[in-house]
Amino acid sequence: MRFLTAAAAALLLMSCQGDRSPAVIEPKVAPILDAPDAVDIHSYAKPLEARVTHLDLDLAVDFAAKRIGGTATLDIQAKPGVREVVLDDKGLEIEAIVDETGRPLPFKVGPKDENLGAPLTIEMGDKRKIVITYKSAPDAGALQWLTPEQTAGKKHPYLLSQGQSIENRAWIPTQDSPGIRQTWSAHIAVPAELTAVMSAPKWDEPDPTPPPPNMKSFGFRMANPVAPYLIAIAVGDLAFRELGPRTGVWTEPAMLDRAAAELADTEKMVDAAEALYGPYQWGRYDMLVLPPSFPFGGMENPTLTFLTPTFIAGDKSLTSLIAHELAHSWSGNLATNATWADFWLNEGMTTYAERRIVEEIYGPKVAAQQVALGLDAMNKAIEENGGATGPDTRLHIDLKGRHPDDGLTDIAYEKGAAFLRTIETIVGRERFDEWLKGWFERHQFEPVTTSIFLADIREHLVKGDKELEDRLMLDQWVYQPGIPSNIARADPQAFAAVDAAVAAFGAGTLPDAAAWQAWTTDERLRFLNRIDRTQPADRLAALDRAFNLSRAGNNELRFAFLTLVVANRFDPAVPALEEFLTMQGRRKFVRPLITSLAEDKEWGLPIAVRVYARARAGYHPVTTRDLDKLGLLKRGK
Ligand code: BES
Ligand code: ZN
Repeated sequence: MRFLTAAAAALLLMSCQGDRSPAVIEPKVAPILDAPDAVDIHSYAKPLEARVTHLDLDLAVDFAAKRIGGTATLDIQAKPGVREVVLDDKGLEIEAIVDETGRPLPFKVGPKDENLGAPLTIEMGDKRKIVITYKSAPDAGALQWLTPEQTAGKKHPYLLSQGQSIENRAWIPTQDSPGIRQTWSAHIAVPAELTAVMSAPKWDEPDPTPPPPNMKSFGFRMANPVAPYLIAIAVGDLAFRELGPRTGVWTEPAMLDRAAAELADTEKMVDAAEALYGPYQWGRYDMLVLPPSFPFGGMENPTLTFLTPTFIAGDKSLTSLIAHELAHSWSGNLATNATWADFWLNEGMTTYAERRIVEEIYGPKVAAQQVALGLDAMNKAIEENGGATGPDTRLHIDLKGRHPDDGLTDIAYEKGAAFLRTIETIVGRERFDEWLKGWFERHQFEPVTTSIFLADIREHLVKGDKELEDRLMLDQWVYQPGIPSNIARADPQAFAAVDAAVAAFGAGTLPDAAAWQAWTTDERLRFLNRIDRTQPADRLAALDRAFNLSRAGNNELRFAFLTLVVANRFDPAVPALEEFLTMQGRRKFVRPLITSLAEDKEWGLPIAVRVYARARAGYHPVTTRDLDKLGLLKRGK
């Protein structure tokens, strides 16, 4: 059924392009959209001319040289008569490009853009299979090479990748655009004592280039066409533990018990998500808990979500992160933003779905509180992005001349989620759920845009109801800045007790110790995020003394308190701040803290310089890329 839909769509596309020759459509080739708003300005590929359909990697991992190298074999589908194909390349060292008979194909690498890398144009003639022999550069932005000292076990090196949004072109020569879905397979040779994992099911097919005795090879195959940013790898001393029939966790042996305990609700979450959004289409849902340098909270790599270890609080209080990454198995991985301008379709839908899963597992009160925290974060993001008229407060954003990650703000996540919740509130949960489930079914394994979203919701939900159309304010939500007047508000009672404590604190009273103990993490976060941003030292000292916040084991709480520490130049917590900034490299935590420190020229800047000099080597390139721009260290390092 799925395959028929994709094939039919591809045929349709061919006819839209006015191509009258009989098209040979292979199974599971996902369509390329041809509308102007589906053109990806962050890729050099010209997929309507020639596009990659399948990618096969045969690679070896060289820790000493910090390189991944070998061959990439690409299957190309092209319009008749098209003789060249353009790929994305960021610093790849290309040794040779040949056709399947081994005959060299001429190629050239175009001028390099700081964000995008360079076009790699290959003259394939009438050939439709090309083999690229290459290596990644030691400074490839997708990859982080950890020394043994930077791991939990301290004995073995570790490699991890982060592809989203446009990093994978630094280690995979392909068309690195979310609108060009590809099936893929890989054989990866690694030092024999290590394990390689990737974002695809295991593949038993023997390695065509068997590794030497001190190396071991791992095979993977993704039979569903996916956006190439979803190809991911990690190599290290890894162990696995099953959590349920189709869920499990990989991590370093020293982390396995704590990780498995924190993730104990995962199987239930998969069941809950399926009941809401239809069958889970990826086989297994495993997770990899990475070393603390992993730059994100989580990354929805298919079949293998990547997770920061900083979500482990010991009490499962930060596992909405799992609900989020799992929800991407529908929003993002099945129906994928065609370009990064429509990133909100990935993240806003996922944030909405995350809270629906949380509601099923932890109950409506917890979900309502997370909705309220989300709306606070949305309002903060509106402020930070120029207020109600700021162009970057639109859901469909303009990224011309910018890096896609400029759009990585809570506008996409929280305004996006608020939009969907508003529709839910207006049409009723039952109707909305039916529509959303249908959306995933209608667009599975396909790229989507904001205009496709609008057309779909009009066809399948609004259905010509003029009065409903007016109430929804759909175009205003997606194309205009600020927040439309019909937004579904937070439940004012969601945090009634905490809000009273916030008011009391404003009047000079510390929260009662027993009350604080009884509060959940979300309630404590509401308190720390809602109290006045300006606090005298004695009040911060009292809070820290009473609730041990600057060294809290819960990293979200610790971050919320350290934000106040920096804003108020609270010297006694600076050692705890420096420790926090050097023990983990999650961008969401380290970027705002180091940026605020750097902006405070008198008090904060020397701390920022000192701590960044120490911490930088432990951060992933995705994190240092932004922080280096602050110019804290000489020679840009
Ligand atoms: N897909 C994102 C991470 C991402 C976005 C990486 C854009 C690179 C570019 C992931 O699903 C995500 O949203 N992670 C969040 C956690 C979530 C609970 C909000 C994070 O890392 O903080
Ligand atoms: Zn996400």
